[in-house]
Amino acid sequence: MAKSKVLDTESLSPVAGAANALGTASPPPAEVPQEAGKTKSPAGSPNETTSTEPEKLQPGLATGILPATHWAQLPLEDEPPQEDNASVGDQDSAFGDAASSTASLSESILEYRNIHGRTFHSNVGVAESWIPNDEQQQESMDIHHHMCTLALGDKLFLAPLKPDIQKVVDIGTGTGLWAIDFAEQFPGAEVTGTDLSPIQPNWVPPNVRFEIDDANLPWTWDDNTFDYVHIRAMMGSIVDWAALYRDAFQCCKPGGYVEHFENSINMDCDDGSIPPGSPMHQWGKVFWAGGEKFGRTFRVIEDDIQRKCMEEAGFVDITVWEHKCPIGSWPADPKLKKLGQFARLVLESDAEGYVLYMWNAVMGWSPTEIQVYLAHLRRQVRDNNVHAWYWQRAVYGRKP
Ligand SMILES: C[S@@+](CC[C@H](N)C(=O)[O-])C[C@H]1O[C@@H](n2cnc3c(N)ncnc32)[C@H](O)[C@@H]1O
Repeated sequence: MAKSKVLDTESLSPVAGAANALGTASPPPAEVPQEAGKTKSPAGSPNETTSTEPEKLQPGLATGILPATHWAQLPLEDEPPQEDNASVGDQDSAFGDAASSTASLSESILEYRNIHGRTFHSNVGVAESWIPNDEQQQESMDIHHHMCTLALGDKLFLAPLKPDIQKVVDIGTGTGLWAIDFAEQFPGAEVTGTDLSPIQPNWVPPNVRFEIDDANLPWTWDDNTFDYVHIRAMMGSIVDWAALYRDAFQCCKPGGYVEHFENSINMDCDDGSIPPGSPMHQWGKVFWAGGEKFGRTFRVIEDDIQRKCMEEAGFVDITVWEHKCPIGSWPADPKLKKLGQFARLVLESDAEGYVLYMWNAVMGWSPTEIQVYLAHLRRQVRDNNVHAWYWQRAVYGRKP
């Protein structure tokens, strides 16, 4: 039986000095290894039965989802006052120039589907992605990379990697910023980033390369190839997580690590500031139901998929880190405020891109219904009285 431990989290509070959102007066230490052999969760974590426990989605049931027509009937009030967002405008300036091909690609790979003005990876074989691959989404991915790095305390990973690490793969690399940053940090390592779409930049460190690959197909790397397999933000993209982890185990060297970072799609709060039926409350519910229809779950954190599949595949010394990532600049703590600003920016930079495929092509909402919903969502996301957050969880394990 694999051991697993939990590295604890930061805490959220909208008011300096007040009890934090986890219900304690002072934040727990950033990293607290728990008793080995058990997986413990911090108060209010997705594994606990508390008021913040995510709703269980009954198979085949779109529990608690309002009809698409609901949003057009709601009056759209004026925008709430926005607080200054200027401090998040100075992030990585590499936005927008990443649309390029790095491999000799067959024409089919570049035949993007166009859905209501946005481009998506074309359905080649079984590959299908809900994430657009156009410039607007690439910009959002770049901001997302920065936000995830901030969440880990300015780190790219948590696994105890050796400085002389040799071979690394990043599955579903997106615009490839994680792979590029990792390659710069470890110039002696050979880093491969894979994705369905050729949206990575050409100008990259000499020790990084990108490949077009479908993670849902059996992996073709030789056994015991990699020292480290990195997976991030792949919810809604994987058909069979257990199979993916078995592949990761096969191609990981003995002593090597797999690490998987996910965000929950479900937005939550601890103070009732996201009322049931409000746009932020509905967001995750529609994705959960859509994922069930699409055959690629969005409930990676809620169903504890990272830890369970890692354990089943044979990884040991499994370590879980999780925390509540704020959305918006409402937390009193300056670090969490900055993180929350970036989390909101990820959402605002391409809210349409995140919902379009799942809500239109999968759930059948019309483009107009989606735009009206997004107008309501934007209003709620910008309201500083809404103390929203979502779970982030990174899990790593070692191949014995
Ligand atoms: C949300 S983005 C995350 C990008 C990157 N991992 C990050 O964290 O910044 C998901 C990425 O997975 C890619 N993707 C989706 N399905 C895939 C598959 N079956 N195989 C490989 N990549 C896939 C998408 O093209 C997209 O670039």
